[in-house]
Amino acid sequence: MRIVIMGAPGSGKGTQAALIVKEMGLDHISTGDLLRAAVAEGSELGLRAKEVMDRGELVSDEIVLGLLEQRLQKGGGAGFILDGYPRNIAQAEALDALLERLGQPVDEALQIDVDEEQVVERIAKRAALEGRSDDTEETVRNRLKVYAEQTAPVVDFYARKGILSRVLGEGSIEEVFQRIRGVLQIQSES
Ligand code: AP5
Ligand code: MG
Repeated sequence: MRIVIMGAPGSGKGTQAALIVKEMGLDHISTGDLLRAAVAEGSELGLRAKEVMDRGELVSDEIVLGLLEQRLQKGGGAGFILDGYPRNIAQAEALDALLERLGQPVDEALQIDVDEEQVVERIAKRAALEGRSDDTEETVRNRLKVYAEQTAPVVDFYARKGILSRVLGEGSIEEVFQRIRGVLQIQSES
């Protein structure tokens, strides 16, 4: 199965993707994690990406698609869950073209809906615990703005394809996961 998981910064994409992967044996591909790995390596690409990420803007489509293509080649046969990609309509179209070429189209797009106040609260907590460099108040504000302007329209892109499901991302991590399980179960039985 090939799943795209979407939602605002702090909505729980990474947390829920990890749980889905455990249950379904998929490959978890997070473009944010791929970029943070490039930053940690200190490569030139990483240095350029860090500056953009710390402002809360999107890294260029070309760089992210390159990282994604490389990473997809390492995946197993069971499928994958994409977390943090696509993040704008151009990326959604590029992903479609890439997966069509590989004969592996997206089966399911999952949108996690969480109120903005709650995501700000969650990220503030994580900032205190982990110190991710883009979790500062100012950058979070910009990440949310970029999300609303560029990423939110991707939800409609998948709705038009008829493969979108929306899940309420509020409540405990386990409660959200149970909702997602319900959605994926229903889809796989139909
Ligand atoms: P990315 O790493 O994708 O960050 P993001 O989308 O801003 O989202 P987060 O990872 O902060 O949140 P999440 O939804 O994964 O939530 P999580 O599970 O962690 O991207 C970072 C940057 O990289 C971008 O700004 C951009 O610059 C660049 N980038 C990445 N992809 C790109 C692309 N495709 N194109 C261009 N640029 C790209 O949860 C958040 C916190 O809440 C955690 O502490 C968690 O424990 C907690 N939590 C989760 N669920 C719950 C719950 N139910 N109740 C209470 N707490 C919860
Ligand atoms: Mg994440």
